[in-house]
Amino acid sequence: MERFIIEGGTPLKGEVNIGGAKNAALGLIPATILCEGLCKIENIPNIKDVNRFINILKKLGIKTTHVNDNTILFNSEDIDQYEMLDEETTKMRASYYLLGALLGRFNKASIPFPGGCDIGLRPIDQHIKGFEALGAKVNIEHGIINVTADKLVGTSIYLDVVSVGATINIMLAAVKAEGVTILENSAKEPHVVDVANFLNLMGANVKGAGTDVIKITGVSKLYGCEYTVIPDQIEAGTYMVAAVATKGNVLITNVIPKHLESISAKLMEMGAEIIEYDDSIRVIGKENLKSINVKTLAYPGFPTDLQQPMAVLMCLTEGTGTITESIFENRFKYIDELRRMGADVIVDGRVAVINGGKKLTGATLKATDLRAGAAMVIAGLVAEGITQVTDLKHIERGYENLESKLRSLGAKISKSL
Ligand code: EPZ
Repeated sequence: MERFIIEGGTPLKGEVNIGGAKNAALGLIPATILCEGLCKIENIPNIKDVNRFINILKKLGIKTTHVNDNTILFNSEDIDQYEMLDEETTKMRASYYLLGALLGRFNKASIPFPGGCDIGLRPIDQHIKGFEALGAKVNIEHGIINVTADKLVGTSIYLDVVSVGATINIMLAAVKAEGVTILENSAKEPHVVDVANFLNLMGANVKGAGTDVIKITGVSKLYGCEYTVIPDQIEAGTYMVAAVATKGNVLITNVIPKHLESISAKLMEMGAEIIEYDDSIRVIGKENLKSINVKTLAYPGFPTDLQQPMAVLMCLTEGTGTITESIFENRFKYIDELRRMGADVIVDGRVAVINGGKKLTGATLKATDLRAGAAMVIAGLVAEGITQVTDLKHIERGYENLESKLRSLGAKISKSL
C-alpha cells in the first residue's frame, strides 16, 4: 500500500499555488447535465473525486474533452439516460447532485445512496424534502433513490438544517421548474455561490446565493458557457495551518482572502502573523502560540473541514484549547492516531479538549478520511523523527499534488509503496 514517509522538523518556506475548489467543482460538473450545449470549465482540481465524477458523466452519455489537466469541455446534448446505478456513485458524497441535475433535466432520476467520508450519519432527508416540495415523488428501494415528477413547480422550501449539499441540489432541480422557488435557511459557502454563478451564466435566474434566502425563477432552457472554478478555501486553509504548525513563512497564492477570514482570525488569535494581499496571503508561524477555542460552524464560521488540521496545531500550543464540532457527529476518529504520537486529547461527544504544549513523535498513522489525512501529514511535518501516513486514497480524493507542493516548500516528504 502506498504511503507518505515524512521527516519532521523543517519549517515550510516559499510559495504555494492553490487549485480549484473541490466542493465547487463537484457541484459544477453535474450542473452541466442541465444545459443542452457545450460548457468549458477551467481551474478544475485534478483529484480522484473529480475524475470519478467525470467517468460517471461519460457513462450517462455526456461527452467530455480534457483541454488540459484542469480545463475540461462538457457536452450534454446527447445525454440519454436518467439513472446511474454504477457503484462508482457510492464512493463519494457528491454523487447526490446527480439527483437534482437529472431531475432538472428529465423530471426523473435514479441513483444509489452516496458514499463519502465516514464522519457521521450524513442523511439526505433535506435533499428529498426539497425535491418533494417541488412536486417530485421519491421512493427508496434496494438502496436506490428513485425520484420522478410530472413537472417541477416552484415553491417555498425551508431547510431544517443548513446543508451545503441540499442547497446546491435543490438549486439544480429548481432552475428549470415552473415558477419561483424560495429556498430559506440555505447554506452560504463560497461553493454554493460558485454553482449559482455558473447556473446564471448558463441562463438560469438564481438570486441571493451567499445569503440564507435564495430565489430561483425557473427558465425553459439553459445554454453552454465558459466558467472558472473559485480557489479552494479548504486547500488554502490546510497550507495556512501547516505553515503555522511548522513555524514557517509561506505565501499562499491564487486565493480569495475573504473566504479565509475565519481561519485567519483563529490563527492570528493564536499569535501567528497573517498578511493579506488581493489574491494571496502570507502566513508566518511564531514561537509561543496561545491555545484557543474553536467551534466549527457553517460559512462564514470556522469550516468543519479544517477542524482536523487545526487540532494538530493546537496540540503544539501551550495551554488547553477546545474544539467543538457542531456540524458532524463523528469527526474525531483521527484523535486516536494523534494520541499515538503523544498528543494529550480528551474527546467527549462533539467536544475535544486538547492539552497542548506536547512534543509529537513520529509514528505510522492511518488517514481515516480526507481531511484527517491532511492532518496526519501536518502532524508528520512537526513530529520528531519519521512519520508514515497510509491509506493515501482518502487524501488523493481532495488534494492535488499535496506531496510535490509540500516538497516545494521544503518539506521532507516522499511516497513509497
Ligand atoms: C459538504 O458535505 C462537503 N462535501 C463536506 O466536505 C463539508 O464538510 C460539508 O459540506 C459541510 O461544509 C461536498 O461538498 C462534496 P451538509 P455535505 O449537507 O453536503 C446534516 C470534504 O472534506 N444534513 O452541509 O454532506 C449533515 O448530517 C467534505 O471536502 C442533514 O441532516 O454537508 C451534517 O450534520 C467532508 N440532512 C450537516 O447537515 C441532509 O439532508 C451539514 O451537512 C443533509 C445534511
